Amino acid sequence: MRIPLIAGNWKMYKTNDEAAHTVRELDKLVKGLAGVHIAVCPPFTALAGVGRLLTELDSKIWLGAQNVYPEPEGAFTGEISPIMLSAAGVYYVIIGHSERREILKETDELIAEKLRAVLENNMVPILCIGETLEEREAGRAQGKVQDQLKKDLSLIDPEQIAGMVFAYEPIWAIGTGRTATPDDAQEMNSFIRQQLASVGGAEVADQARILYGGSVKPQNIKDIMKMEDVDGALVGGASLNAEEFSSIARYKE
Ligand code: PGA
Repeated sequence: MRIPLIAGNWKMYKTNDEAAHTVRELDKLVKGLAGVHIAVCPPFTALAGVGRLLTELDSKIWLGAQNVYPEPEGAFTGEISPIMLSAAGVYYVIIGHSERREILKETDELIAEKLRAVLENNMVPILCIGETLEEREAGRAQGKVQDQLKKDLSLIDPEQIAGMVFAYEPIWAIGTGRTATPDDAQEMNSFIRQQLASVGGAEVADQARILYGGSVKPQNIKDIMKMEDVDGALVGGASLNAEEFSSIARYKE
């Protein structure tokens, strides 16, 4: 049984005070909600504070980070290690978000290292994959995703796939208000599951959670979550507001 995950990616938004305010609101709004995991991924500066607040509130919300560097410590100015994240109470780590791939020029080789480092430190990676509009229009969407998976998973033990989270995020749907249709999301997520099965076997693939991300809103979450291979959502813009995000998490109501 795959427990759905609704994860909020706050990107480069929210000061410490703003983050704490949103978490307090959100925690009230989702108290007692069962059958779904909720996570927030604040910027690095707010991680430790949000972690302490979640403990203080005895909250069921999980803490996530947006990035990591694949070394335990060292002379890597500006970077944060998996050990530091774990010590701050982080459970989920977003890896390979398209904004990092495109703007920060992250390669699949680096992403593969990050994946291995996160798993070694007993946290759960949320690996983002997805195609550009150009690739989709050229009929290369599946080829792109297949290629990313092959490279990004190259350093881990295939059995570890079972405990991972994947997020299919078509780049043309991120922050654009243009959502993939539920059928598009299902088609790609089921393709991703087939690819995972070919690497780790059917049982492993069946346990991995595969999210959809890209302009998810309270208005479209219900239809997206009806799809068999969609196990949750990675939410950007709509996760910044506690009310909006909580109504996404309450998609079953
Ligand atoms: P969006 O972002 O919900 O604002 O489209 C999703 C993401 O980048 O994870």
